[in-house]
Amino acid sequence: MEQKILMEQKIKDLRERAGGAIKSASTLKTLDEVRVKFLGKKGELTTLLRGMSQLSAEERPIVGKLVNEAREDIEQLLTEKNSSLKAAELQAKLASEKIDVTLPGRRVHEGHLHPLTLTLNRVKEIFVNMGYTVEEGPEVETDYYNFEALNLPKDHPARDMQDSFYITEDILLRTQTSPVQARTMERYKNNEPIRMIAPGRVYRRDDYDASHSPMFTQVEGLVIDKGISFADLKGTLEDFSKKIFGEKTKIRLRPSFFPFTEPSAEVDVSCVMCHGEGCKVCQGTGWLEILGAGMVHPDVLKMSGYDPSQVSGFAFGMGIERIAMLSYGLDDMRLLYDNDVRFLKQF
Ligand code: PHE
Repeated sequence: MEQKILMEQKIKDLRERAGGAIKSASTLKTLDEVRVKFLGKKGELTTLLRGMSQLSAEERPIVGKLVNEAREDIEQLLTEKNSSLKAAELQAKLASEKIDVTLPGRRVHEGHLHPLTLTLNRVKEIFVNMGYTVEEGPEVETDYYNFEALNLPKDHPARDMQDSFYITEDILLRTQTSPVQARTMERYKNNEPIRMIAPGRVYRRDDYDASHSPMFTQVEGLVIDKGISFADLKGTLEDFSKKIFGEKTKIRLRPSFFPFTEPSAEVDVSCVMCHGEGCKVCQGTGWLEILGAGMVHPDVLKMSGYDPSQVSGFAFGMGIERIAMLSYGLDDMRLLYDNDVRFLKQF
């Protein structure tokens, strides 16, 4: 009898202590330690069960029932605590891994086209919209196409203005895109109308300073058809200048000389900065030279298989670096070749 009371007391005490330990367990790990301590194989409840042997046959089922109830109770408490601890741990994990969607993202730096390419594309677009085709020719050119077919025979003094890089006596880096005129005429033949531009790199033995480079970019233009006149040339260049530099732009033609055009002209546009008033950029003149042009020389037409008594044409050539410098307000051409990202980023 005494033994039974003692057992009952111990069970009650065990239940209370287990309950308290479960309540104060703050992690899943300590909760599991509590489980092992009370319900494990070598735990307190098992030890308690050993004392059953001292009970009488009638007392045993009663105490046994109490033990089972205590076990169920404790298991119940353990399960509840387990899920609340798990929920709390998840909550803590979520809170610690929270992403602040209001933080600014990492910017991807997108590249873009070089200012020279942008300018060239604009020039191309203007002429393509006027119905011109875009023709290309080799940068390593023969003396024949670079000079002779353009009315510059060997020893012609005008060759001096375009000294070049020779590979052999007869092969050189082209000094102008004009050889593409001759090449295109040879391809079309039979006085077929031509309306083309030829963009590309050209090479001259020049110094490298704020306005010269041994390599630069040209766009050559050529139009051939029946009845093409100087007025067509002027109208076309005026239209082009307004499109590239703005509607207010005026043009002016000054007599000049090119062996492959006659008559020839240097073409100026009203200053893009001061619009003709006179400023530092136009050196007070109000005008800026942008290209060379003229009516295709009859001998040039003949040499490439066209008949000057049937058709006539005009040609023009411009430096894209110059157009880029004027439209972006650059004072040094070398900026276009230095590949300084701080400069290039601005376009
Ligand atoms: N090819 C000439 C130059 O490079 C420019 C030009 C082209 C002039 C066509 C007249 C006609 O200087």
